[in-house]
Amino acid sequence: MNGVTLKPSSSPLTGNLQVPGDKSISHRAVMLGALAKGTTHITNFLTGEDCNRTVDAFRQFGVSIQQNNTSLTIESNGPGNFHEPIEPLYFGNSGTTARLMPGILAGLPFFTSVYGDASLASRPMNRVVKPLEKMGGQFDGRSGGSYLPLAVRGGNLKGIHYTLPIKSAQVKSAVLLGGLFAEGATEVVEASPTRDHSENMLRAFGADISASNGHIRISNEKSLIATDVYVPGDISSAAFFMTAAAIVPGSKLTLTNVGLNHSRSGIIDVLREMGASFDISNQQIIGGEAFGDVTITHQKLTGTVIEGEIVPRLIDELPIIALAATQAEGTTIIRDAEELRVKETDRIKATTEGLTRLGAYVKPTENGMVIEGGYSLTGGKTKAYNDHRIAMMLAISSLITKDAVMIDDVSSINISYPDFFQHLQTVTSQ
Ligand code: S3P
Repeated sequence: MNGVTLKPSSSPLTGNLQVPGDKSISHRAVMLGALAKGTTHITNFLTGEDCNRTVDAFRQFGVSIQQNNTSLTIESNGPGNFHEPIEPLYFGNSGTTARLMPGILAGLPFFTSVYGDASLASRPMNRVVKPLEKMGGQFDGRSGGSYLPLAVRGGNLKGIHYTLPIKSAQVKSAVLLGGLFAEGATEVVEASPTRDHSENMLRAFGADISASNGHIRISNEKSLIATDVYVPGDISSAAFFMTAAAIVPGSKLTLTNVGLNHSRSGIIDVLREMGASFDISNQQIIGGEAFGDVTITHQKLTGTVIEGEIVPRLIDELPIIALAATQAEGTTIIRDAEELRVKETDRIKATTEGLTRLGAYVKPTENGMVIEGGYSLTGGKTKAYNDHRIAMMLAISSLITKDAVMIDDVSSINISYPDFFQHLQTVTSQ
């Protein structure tokens, strides 16, 4: 247990901050770097616990991965030279490792077994197992392969045409990764766009991939070629500081090199819509991924409605957006976010309960929340449910509460943002 008591602080957030590398892109860089023949250098890699789980998995296949802080060098002879792992692969708390790796495991001609922590073991896996079985992968696990631990016997995949039944980049990516090993083309169709980091990076590694109007097609015709990857700052980590600057009077904060991929930047659109002031500069694109410097200045916020196509573009930011909504004038309604129920914890329940304990007026709905804004938060005892994003949202709340905020356990923050508290200290004392 690693609880904290955060005294209220009304210091504005000022100066510059560089948040750590993007979690989704870091995972994918290790996966594609290991699948490609040659040497891949990754810079600004996220050294959080989740990405370490992906690195460990490929080391168990015999891939050489050298890590020096946030720089990684992967030397691989391609998947034809991977060997069957002796031990089960441990995916810890990492949903992205657990959802994407089966696409690769289904393609490898040997046996693998995988497991995770208690939270991961309760998250649905049938969403990736079903399409990969259609491709020819053989899976077994609890409830017929619906939950970890899973056993996989891979090899001999064939391409499929698959329409995503849920808005999930993880499912899309698992099928595309399977497509790298399959005979014939694989096509994934998505009705609403989800994050497209897999598509961007597969293209950068030379895969035979094309995407238009929600139809993504991949084949095994071209082998991946090692390439260098720069990982932009994680907008999902930046979100905590963007929101903090948006709600603490007197703040003006610049977040440097933040990923601005359109499929991830919904939080900027929503905070802007609520009245926050953003200035974006130094924009660049590397490996298909846009990034730049984001300056946010405190302004009065008003409530809004978040629903439909924007939801996948800010799915991981909804807990911190809910905190912003408590400080906005009027009501904020969040709909179409039923996926929050199956994240690291049930984030509708955890966010509603946490904010209510702090004195906010938040009602859970089946697929979202209704937040009455304009009330001062009191502070109090809260629970993070071992969820990094809930823990960071609760920590940020202490910047606007009257009394201290106690959080039962903040160790989960190491999943995605090991330096979070140092960074919080820096931006509130410059
Ligand atoms: C992720 C996709 C999202 C997101 C998760 C990371 C990814 O999940 O919530 O944190 O890296 O592809 P879903 O695709 O299941 O919505």
